[in-house]
This record gives sequence, structure tokens and C-alpha cells, in this order.
Amino acid sequence: MKDIVFIIRAEKLEIVKSILDEHGCGGMTVMTAMGCGTQRGFTDEDAVQEIKGYKTKINLLPKIRIEAVVEDELVESILLDVRERIATGKVGDGKVFIFPVEDAMRIRTGERGDSAI
Ligand SMILES: Nc1ncnc2c1ncn2[C@@H]1O[C@H](COP(=O)(O)OP(=O)(O)OP(=O)(O)O)[C@@H](O)[C@H]1O
Ligand SMILES: [Mg+2]
Repeated sequence: MKDIVFIIRAEKLEIVKSILDEHGCGGMTVMTAMGCGTQRGFTDEDAVQEIKGYKTKINLLPKIRIEAVVEDELVESILLDVRERIATGKVGDGKVFIFPVEDAMRIRTGERGDSAI
């Protein structure tokens, strides 16, 4: 099992929800987030912005964080679809992090591992 964490533009949430559903993922968790990547939230890397009296070099932008624990075999096809369907080619499209998951349990039944997701 792998835990896939997508940090994406808010307007792409519906597409990623559909992709996960189409690939038969067992569930997902969605959170609002604030973040920045290599541009530190600016279009001009050297920009310094004044926010409430503080000069900041880190401008956190609102993003959506989607987390889905899926079977190993699903990961590559999901990533391919996400890249094909939500990449705009502009900075800030987002990132995906993939973590190994040791185990899972469905609380209602006590099922473990792949059967629990
Ligand atoms: N190394 C990181 N660690 C944790 N979160 C990150 C990291 N990089 C990006 N993120 C999250 O992903 C969001 C989108 O990042 P973003 O797409 O701007 O990445 P990037 O590396 O700057 O790529 P690009 O050059 O395409 O913009 C950020 O707002 C942040 O929430
Ligand atoms: Mg960026």
C-alpha cells in the first residue's frame, strides 16, 4: 500500500476526485492547506512582499491537500492520469508525495492490509 498526497490548485479538486474514483480507490481525505514551492509563492523569485507590516520572502498560497491510501499497483496509473489532466504547464501546478504504508485496519470489521482500504 502507498499513501499518495497531492497538493494541488483548488480548482483541480474535482478532477483529482474523479481520477481517484475512476481508479477504484477505497477512500480519500481532503484538507485545505497553505504552502509554497520553489518560487516561495511569488512569480518573481526575488520578490519581497509586505504583508501586514512584515516584509516576507515566503508567500503562502491556499492549496488543497488530498490524501489517498491505495494498492501499490494503482500508483503509476493514477500519477499518469493526474499529470495528463491537471498540469497547466505554469508554476504552481502542485506536487505529489508517495509514502509506504505498513498496514491499515477497517475499524468496523477488523480487516487488515489491502482488504482494509
Ligand atoms: N518540498 C515540499 N515540501 C512540502 N510541500 C511542498 C513542497 N514543494 C511544494 N509543496 C507544496 O506544493 C504546493 C505547490 O508547489 P509548486 O507546484 O509551486 O511546487 P514547485 O516545486 O515550486 O513547482 P513549480 O516550479 O511547478 O511551481 C506548495 O504550495 C506546497 O504546499
Ligand atoms: Mg512553485
